[in-house]
Amino acid sequence: MMKQLMTVTLMLVLVAGMAHAETDAKRGEKVFEECRACHATERGGEGLGPDLHGMIGRRAGTLESFRYSPAMKKSGITWSAQTLESFISDPQKTVPANRMPYSGMAEAKDRADLILYLQEAFK
Ligand code: HEC
Repeated sequence: MMKQLMTVTLMLVLVAGMAHAETDAKRGEKVFEECRACHATERGGEGLGPDLHGMIGRRAGTLESFRYSPAMKKSGITWSAQTLESFISDPQKTVPANRMPYSGMAEAKDRADLILYLQEAFK
């Protein structure tokens, strides 16, 4: 009985894990609503912030069409999963004196899903 129960539990955990993996980027797209208010997804899109088209692998603060803060231009960051994780969790700590009016995303799961989505949508 105990053994059967453990098998069932293990299967449930596995199935839940698979469903989870499938929905991550989709969930990330919803989390991105927080960013969409200021960031366009298409090249040249208008917004309070720079458009994020092709942002993965790009040096921070280098779009010709956007007037960045000196802090962002001089940050020397290249956008990747790691640098985004740091920037989104605490923008002011990662790039002090940058002008993005966003205080940070507290939930690690939200950030992980968002970054998955960003990597798919903005490479
Ligand atoms: C209220 C408006 C606003 C919100 C909300 C916002 N941003 Fe920004 N974002 C900006 C501005 C303005 C800048 C430019 C900052 C600067 O030049 O210092 C910026 C810069 C950036 C950059 C650097 C882009 C580049 O070309 O180097 C990234 C990446 C970024 N934001 C991602 C995000 C993500 C992801 C979210 C959602 C979690 C988000 N932002 C939410 C306004 C916003």
